[in-house]
Parts: sequence; C-alpha cells; structure tokens
Amino acid sequence: METTLILLKPDTVERSLVGQVISRLENKGLKINGLKMMQLDDAIIEEHYDFLMDKPFFPGIKAYMKRTPVVAIAVSGANAIATVRNLTGATNPSEALPGSIRGDFALTIDANIIHASDSAETAEKELKRFFNEGEVVEYTKVTDAVV
Ligand code: CMP
Repeated sequence: METTLILLKPDTVERSLVGQVISRLENKGLKINGLKMMQLDDAIIEEHYDFLMDKPFFPGIKAYMKRTPVVAIAVSGANAIATVRNLTGATNPSEALPGSIRGDFALTIDANIIHASDSAETAEKELKRFFNEGEVVEYTKVTDAVV
C-alpha cells in the first residue's frame, strides 16, 4: 500500500473541476486520507519546485500557483504513486492521452490542472510538505476488501 500527494492546482479550483477530479480518484478505488484547501506562499512554492528555480518559466509557475488556493490531497492504494501518475497523464496536456485528467481537462503546460508525486521518495517528502502531523488519517472502508 502506498500513499501519494496530489495538488489540484489553481485552474482546477477556478474552473470548478475539483469534484470531477476527486471523483476520478475515488472511482479508481484510491482512498482519500487527507484533504485540504491551501493558499500557497512563495516559500512553499520555492521548496516544492526548487528543481525548476533556474528555468525561465519559474516566475510564471510561482504566479500561477499563488493565484488562487490549491487543494492538497493524500491518497492511498495499491501502487498508488504510479497509478495516480497514470491517471494524471503527461505533464504537457497536449501530449496527455484522452481519458487522463490532463488529457481531458487541460490544454497547456502552464495550466496543467494537477500535480502528483513521481516516486516513493518524493511522495514522502511532499506529503510532509503539505500535511502536518495528524492531518493524514488511516481508516477502513467497506470497499477496502474489493478494490
Ligand atoms: P508538475 O507536475 O506540477 O511538475 C512541474 C511543473 O512545472 C509542471 O507540472 C508544470 O506545471 C510546470 N512546467 C514544466 N515545464 C514547464 C514549461 N515549459 N512551461 C511552464 N510550466 C512548466
């Protein structure tokens, strides 16, 4: 069982797509263990995207990620990290397959709807970045036995 971090980015909130994206996660059989809306500041964006700080598009990412709140989600399930990345689709929505979240809801890389951790190591770091102690909760669902 793995747990991974998802951010529903400002365009998802602005376009009222939060429910539709969360439904896709739930329909797949993933379990929501943490969920909160957050207004990001410069510090957390710089930490989260530190590997992009030297890129010419970094100021654009910063402005985008601060424009409106994001929704942070901790989700778990068998192979959750790879499964969520597959549901999410390619980083550039023009290359994301139809049926994926970016493939169905986004057009350009600078407003690509969703972020998902790309490895177990990243997921661990990113979950700690966006959720405080006690905000990611374990529980049992009746469907646990059948997914
Ligand atoms: P994400 O999956 O959150 O991880 C890194 C983010 O950087 C990516 O989604 C995009 O939002 C953003 N990004 C990557 N490449 C570009 C680019 N060429 N122009 C603008 N934003 C980019």
